[in-house]
Amino acid sequence: MTVAGIVALFTLGWTMVDLSLSPDKLKFYAWHKWVGCSVFVLTIARLLWRLTHPLPPLPDDVPSFERYLAGAMHSFLYVILLAMPLIGWIRSSAEGISVVLFGVLPLPNLVEKDKVLAETLEIAHWAGSWVLLALISGHVLAALGHHLIRRDAVLTNMLPRCRWCSIVAVVGVTLLVTIFATTAKAGPIDSWRIAYNDSEINFSGKQLGVTMSGHFSQWQAEIVFDPDNVNATRVRIEIDIASINTGFPEADELMARNTWLAVAKFPEAIFEATQLQHINANRYEMQGQLKIRDQIHPVNIPLTLQMIVSPSNPDKLLGKASGEIIIGRLDFGIGRGAWADTDTIANEVRIFFTLQGERAL
Ligand code: HEM
Repeated sequence: MTVAGIVALFTLGWTMVDLSLSPDKLKFYAWHKWVGCSVFVLTIARLLWRLTHPLPPLPDDVPSFERYLAGAMHSFLYVILLAMPLIGWIRSSAEGISVVLFGVLPLPNLVEKDKVLAETLEIAHWAGSWVLLALISGHVLAALGHHLIRRDAVLTNMLPRCRWCSIVAVVGVTLLVTIFATTAKAGPIDSWRIAYNDSEINFSGKQLGVTMSGHFSQWQAEIVFDPDNVNATRVRIEIDIASINTGFPEADELMARNTWLAVAKFPEAIFEATQLQHINANRYEMQGQLKIRDQIHPVNIPLTLQMIVSPSNPDKLLGKASGEIIIGRLDFGIGRGAWADTDTIANEVRIFFTLQGERAL
């Protein structure tokens, strides 16, 4: 199980760091962390078991330096198998991202948020993964050397009793994780990679006649769109409400409160498209559902869409979508009690956005 876990960790780890921000990427990170924590628990269990079940002795003809080397290698393997998950866990805490095991069991943060520590541990985790890989390769080569050259029982002693079960488990996990990783990497052909740095989601509203505006700095979009097959369009945008930025810290703090966006209770606003219609030329209309707080309402968003073949890469299509809608804040329960008075803060809130991205042609 530990071997299968390590195969999964490397496959997920190497794949996820190259993915652009998407729901798949977040799932990969979560699974990587969950499997990593499971390997930590399995390693402790194995160490406890070893205390009562010592390793079978090496054959008599194994020279003493090799015995010493084997002992050192085993100890180092245990150390790194315990250190890697701990480094990963501390790194996540330092980034300010808690680990919630299998989405249900929150683990405590081991350190306060600390950007420099997070960056240092990222390098340590990456370096540790290569040390672990080198140790595993050395271990496998040594075992094969015993089996094929010395023809002794070292390799067969290392294998678990039910050999076929373990081979099937390792091959099965490797295949599953590889299929999972390659399909996520490829994505559907008409899926767009969003250029988050060139995209924005803004809003504005009136306060006693004065227009106030702001934006959300954290959000993610999953967009599948092919102009030749508009009916197959899929759009889902998740906005991290805590990332609201009005330019006034006091206003941001007010927005987070229960009377406004209730960030602690409803951390995300979600838009999901149900239909896209081509109006004419580059004009479209998207119908969908918008969820803010615990309120879901249908919305129609007129859009303009520009697409060109990338001047630097003829295999890529570049796209830019802009649009806006007006929503009634009171329909979503935003601004309650004394704030519900629309003479002070108007009910209409304009949400306007520009999304840019690319996809394979
Ligand atoms: C034995 C356990 C583990 C192994 C072998 C392992 C291995 C790896 C590998 C190979 C990568 C990719 C490194 C790269 O190419 O940049 C990676 C990345 C990562 N791992 Fe682990 N990992 C383990 C446990 C954990 C745990 C328990 C956590 C968190 C709770 C974690 C968090 C991360 C994070 C956040 C990254 C992404 C780093 C980045 O964004 O550059 N890992 N890990």
